[in-house]
Amino acid sequence: MSSKKILVTGGAGYIGSHTAVELVRAGYEPVLLDNFSNSERFIVARVRKITGRNIRLHTADCSVPAAVDKVFKKEGRFHGIIHFAALKAVEESVAQPLRYYRNNLGGLLTMLEAVARYQVPHFVFSSSCTVYGEPDKLPVREDAPVKNTSSPYGETKKIAERILETFLQSGVPFKAVSLRYFNPIGAHPSALIGELPLGTPKNLVPFVAQTAAGIRKILQVYGDDYGTPDGTCIRDYIHVIDLAAAHVRALGYLEKKRGPFYDVFNIGTGSGQSVLGIVRTFEKVTGVKVPYRIAPRRAGDIAAIYAAAGKAKKVLGWSAKLSLEDALRSSWEWQKGLCPSRGRTRRSA
Ligand code: WQD
Repeated sequence: MSSKKILVTGGAGYIGSHTAVELVRAGYEPVLLDNFSNSERFIVARVRKITGRNIRLHTADCSVPAAVDKVFKKEGRFHGIIHFAALKAVEESVAQPLRYYRNNLGGLLTMLEAVARYQVPHFVFSSSCTVYGEPDKLPVREDAPVKNTSSPYGETKKIAERILETFLQSGVPFKAVSLRYFNPIGAHPSALIGELPLGTPKNLVPFVAQTAAGIRKILQVYGDDYGTPDGTCIRDYIHVIDLAAAHVRALGYLEKKRGPFYDVFNIGTGSGQSVLGIVRTFEKVTGVKVPYRIAPRRAGDIAAIYAAAGKAKKVLGWSAKLSLEDALRSSWEWQKGLCPSRGRTRRSA
């Protein structure tokens, strides 16, 4: 097996599972760690099927030091860690801030303690464009001021980046990057893995797909009175395959660096699309109507954000390759495979 073993925390999750597939393609050996609090076990079998590898899984909570120690004692040396595991429901975090701080920051601290104890040289952190809050300028650059975010979830990402940066400044010989994701959408072309929202989807594209599948009656468009061309919010929607590939590029970049080293990258397409634009494009690529109504604005939403994507292109040699149409088409293919007859949004085991 390759000596470049990578621990993927949250590896059974939406972005983690797609990244595990890309890691194998790039010659790495992913090892998954997941507590299945917001993911399904059948996804691990799917990742094994797509890659043709019997990828190892550890069922554990990465915010529990003893559990993480057990994994490292079993697995031995890791070439790197990609840390996805975190709670990420923005609205839920407003209602349960302490749970979010405990889980998201506890998980990061435990993983960094493991980095120090087991000398893991490379660390990629799953961060978010939410750290920018409402940017003053668009497209938003990495050196834009990090502002008060609209939720405890966003605060955990902001604080986590500071923990990472100051950890690396303490003189440890490790190397790390934070990747600030914009809006991940889409699914693997095999339609074997994709986004699996728990219960009613909070995010736009899964809700659109479930409405098209008849699982949801109608899409609520949260506000059409924003200062944007069609009045609906603008976001930078990035295909999850492109996003996964960015993690592989980030590892390659870190391998060439001497520690201690830390940097931050926007991972977005560099262009924005409105909510109604997403609906129109989805209908165009699938031929399926998506009924919607204009509803009141959603608390915490910002009018527009999309990435300045030049730094990742110049430094990582990475840019988004797949189109919005590719992403929405793959979301629909994935949704159709999810027991549409029984109107279930998640396949059972
Ligand atoms: C997009 C737009 C909604 C649902 C997400 C994640 C966050 C971060 C960034 C990773 C908004 C509108 C939505 C619906 C709607 N990612 N919408 N009807 O809020 O940009 O944040 O991506 O860290 O964690 O939550 O994404 O998909 O929820 O919303 O009108 O039923 O779609 O108002 O304008 P958001 P989203």
